[in-house]
Amino acid sequence: MPHRDRYLFVCTNRREDANPKGSCAQKGSEALVKALKEALLARGLLKSVRACGSACLDLCESGISIVQEPDHVAYGGVTPADVPEIVDAVARGDVVERLVIHDGRRRP
Ligand code: FES
Repeated sequence: MPHRDRYLFVCTNRREDANPKGSCAQKGSEALVKALKEALLARGLLKSVRACGSACLDLCESGISIVQEPDHVAYGGVTPADVPEIVDAVARGDVVERLVIHDGRRRP
Protein backbone atom coordinates (compact mmCIF):
# COMPACT_ATOMS: atom_id res chain seq x y z
CA MET A 1 0.00 0.00 0.00
CA PRO A 2 1.45 3.39 -0.93
CA HIS A 3 2.14 6.17 1.51
CA ARG A 4 -1.08 8.12 2.07
CA ASP A 5 -1.57 11.83 1.49
CA ARG A 6 -2.87 12.26 5.02
CA TYR A 7 -2.95 10.40 8.31
CA LEU A 8 -5.31 10.65 11.24
CA PHE A 9 -3.56 9.38 14.35
CA VAL A 10 -6.19 8.72 16.98
CA CYS A 11 -4.98 8.20 20.53
CA THR A 12 -6.19 4.82 21.73
CA ASN A 13 -4.10 4.78 24.88
CA ARG A 14 -5.85 3.07 27.77
CA ARG A 15 -4.92 3.60 31.40
CA GLU A 16 -6.23 1.72 34.37
CA ASP A 17 -9.69 2.86 35.38
CA ALA A 18 -8.37 4.13 38.71
CA ASN A 19 -5.80 6.40 37.06
CA PRO A 20 -6.94 10.01 37.64
CA LYS A 21 -5.37 11.12 34.38
CA GLY A 22 -7.91 9.10 32.41
CA SER A 23 -7.26 8.10 28.80
CA CYS A 24 -8.72 8.46 25.34
CA ALA A 25 -9.70 4.78 25.13
CA GLN A 26 -11.79 5.19 28.28
CA LYS A 27 -13.57 8.04 26.48
CA GLY A 28 -14.38 5.90 23.42
CA SER A 29 -11.50 6.50 21.02
CA GLU A 30 -11.32 2.87 19.86
CA ALA A 31 -14.84 3.15 18.46
CA LEU A 32 -13.87 6.48 16.92
CA VAL A 33 -11.03 4.87 14.93
CA LYS A 34 -13.48 2.28 13.66
CA ALA A 35 -16.00 4.97 12.68
CA LEU A 36 -13.30 6.95 10.86
CA LYS A 37 -12.14 3.86 8.96
CA GLU A 38 -15.71 3.05 7.96
CA ALA A 39 -16.35 6.62 6.84
CA LEU A 40 -13.13 6.70 4.80
CA LEU A 41 -14.08 3.40 3.18
CA ALA A 42 -17.57 4.67 2.36
CA ARG A 43 -16.07 7.76 0.74
CA GLY A 44 -13.51 5.80 -1.27
CA LEU A 45 -10.63 7.50 0.53
CA LEU A 46 -8.67 4.52 1.84
CA LYS A 47 -5.88 4.99 -0.71
CA SER A 48 -5.36 8.63 0.19
CA VAL A 49 -6.17 8.84 3.92
CA ARG A 50 -5.28 6.47 6.73
CA ALA A 51 -6.88 6.51 10.17
CA CYS A 52 -5.02 4.53 12.79
CA GLY A 53 -4.72 4.20 16.52
CA SER A 54 -1.73 5.67 18.29
CA ALA A 55 -0.16 5.69 21.71
CA CYS A 56 -0.72 8.66 23.99
CA LEU A 57 -0.40 11.99 22.15
CA ASP A 58 0.20 13.82 25.44
CA LEU A 59 -3.05 15.74 25.05
CA CYS A 60 -4.89 13.72 27.69
CA GLU A 61 -6.60 16.71 29.27
CA SER A 62 -8.29 17.55 25.97
CA GLY A 63 -10.63 14.59 25.56
CA ILE A 64 -10.25 12.22 22.64
CA SER A 65 -7.29 13.52 20.65
CA ILE A 66 -6.32 13.16 17.00
CA VAL A 67 -3.24 14.40 15.19
CA GLN A 68 -3.67 15.02 11.47
CA GLU A 69 -0.50 14.85 9.40
CA PRO A 70 1.13 16.31 7.41
CA ASP A 71 -0.97 19.28 8.44
CA HIS A 72 0.57 19.34 11.93
CA VAL A 73 -2.71 19.98 13.71
CA ALA A 74 -4.16 18.31 16.76
CA TYR A 75 -7.87 17.95 17.45
CA GLY A 76 -9.23 17.70 20.96
CA GLY A 77 -12.51 16.65 22.46
CA VAL A 78 -13.46 14.67 19.37
CA THR A 79 -16.74 12.74 19.44
CA PRO A 80 -18.33 10.29 17.00
CA ALA A 81 -20.57 13.14 15.81
CA ASP A 82 -17.45 14.88 14.45
CA VAL A 83 -16.48 12.01 12.15
CA PRO A 84 -18.36 13.19 9.02
CA GLU A 85 -16.91 16.69 9.33
CA ILE A 86 -13.38 15.36 9.85
CA VAL A 87 -13.68 13.09 6.81
CA ASP A 88 -15.15 15.89 4.68
CA ALA A 89 -12.26 18.16 5.65
CA VAL A 90 -9.50 15.61 5.12
CA ALA A 91 -10.99 14.72 1.73
CA ARG A 92 -10.49 18.37 0.74
CA GLY A 93 -7.01 18.44 2.24
CA ASP A 94 -8.34 20.71 4.95
CA VAL A 95 -8.81 20.66 8.71
CA VAL A 96 -11.80 21.22 11.02
CA GLU A 97 -10.86 24.53 12.57
CA ARG A 98 -13.29 24.30 15.49
CA LEU A 99 -11.60 21.12 16.74
CA VAL A 100 -8.01 22.40 16.50
CA ILE A 101 -6.26 22.64 19.87
CA HIS A 102 -2.67 22.78 18.58
CA ASP A 103 -1.87 24.35 15.26
CA GLY A 104 1.57 23.71 13.80
CA ARG A 105 0.70 24.79 10.29
CA ARG A 106 3.20 27.06 8.63
CA ARG A 107 1.62 30.09 7.10
CA PRO A 108 3.26 32.49 4.67
S1 FES B 1 -4.42 9.29 26.67
FE1 FES B 1 -4.95 10.14 24.74
S2 FES B 1 -3.68 11.88 24.56
FE2 FES B 1 -3.01 10.88 26.36
